[in-house]
Amino acid sequence: MASFKLGFFLLACVFAFLFLSTPTQCKDEVDSVYKGINSFRQTKNLSPLNRVPKAYCLADEIAEEMEDIPCEQVSQYYPGGSMQIPKLQKHIDKCDINITTTSDGVILPVCVAKLEPTVVLSNYTHSDVYAKYLNNSKYTGAGLGSEDDWMVLVLTTNTPTGTFAADASTLHAGVEFLLLALLVLLINYLY
Ligand SMILES: *[C@@H]1O[C@H](CO)[C@@H](O)[C@H](O)[C@H]1NC(C)=O
Ligand SMILES: *[C@@H]1O[C@H](CO)[C@@H](O)[C@H](O)[C@H]1NC(C)=O
Ligand SMILES: *[C@@H]1O[C@H](CO)[C@@H](O)[C@H](O)[C@H]1NC(C)=O
Repeated sequence: MASFKLGFFLLACVFAFLFLSTPTQCKDEVDSVYKGINSFRQTKNLSPLNRVPKAYCLADEIAEEMEDIPCEQVSQYYPGGSMQIPKLQKHIDKCDINITTTSDGVILPVCVAKLEPTVVLSNYTHSDVYAKYLNNSKYTGAGLGSEDDWMVLVLTTNTPTGTFAADASTLHAGVEFLLLALLVLLINYLY
């Protein structure tokens, strides 16, 4: 009985751990836009975009960075626009992404008052600037993040230069594993 309880508790901890290390993936507006984009892909006979955790992380960091920029300026941040995504390198580092695995990807920000999901979605699927990215079989994965009136969509590919893979030179994953191991030790000790 005791060992069953312990097993259950451990399992709960692992779930909590997994859940806590992927924050904000469950924001409502982000999720509804993600589903809308995949419905759009379906109507074009394209495979749905997979959720890519690193791309979610990056989209979230960028949205946070851009939240105070007035919506009128959004077109300057379109791909190939006059402005670079602010502090992109910093966000790539923070998400532990290997930068050479990002060059085929694309970052698509939109700014819509209150992020009304239907407006955001039509921004992505109906505007000439963005529809051509979503209507493209080259992209296979996505990450979304939002903050205030801004939503950011990161599209990834399954080519070596577009997967948004982890940067092997960072210790982040190792640290997370260590924390989990410590937690398990502690629980065993307490019981
Ligand atoms: C998104 O919608 C807003 C408001 O309708 C518009 O001003 C903006 O240009 C749109 N952006 C794109 C990428 O279509
Ligand atoms: C989507 O792509 C297909 C094939 O490349 C093209 O025929 C179609 O016009 C495109 N539609 C939009 C909305 O871009
Ligand atoms: C980054 O990705 C490239 C291409 O996949 C790989 O050759 C390189 O070793 C990676 N670097 C790190 C630090 O993970």
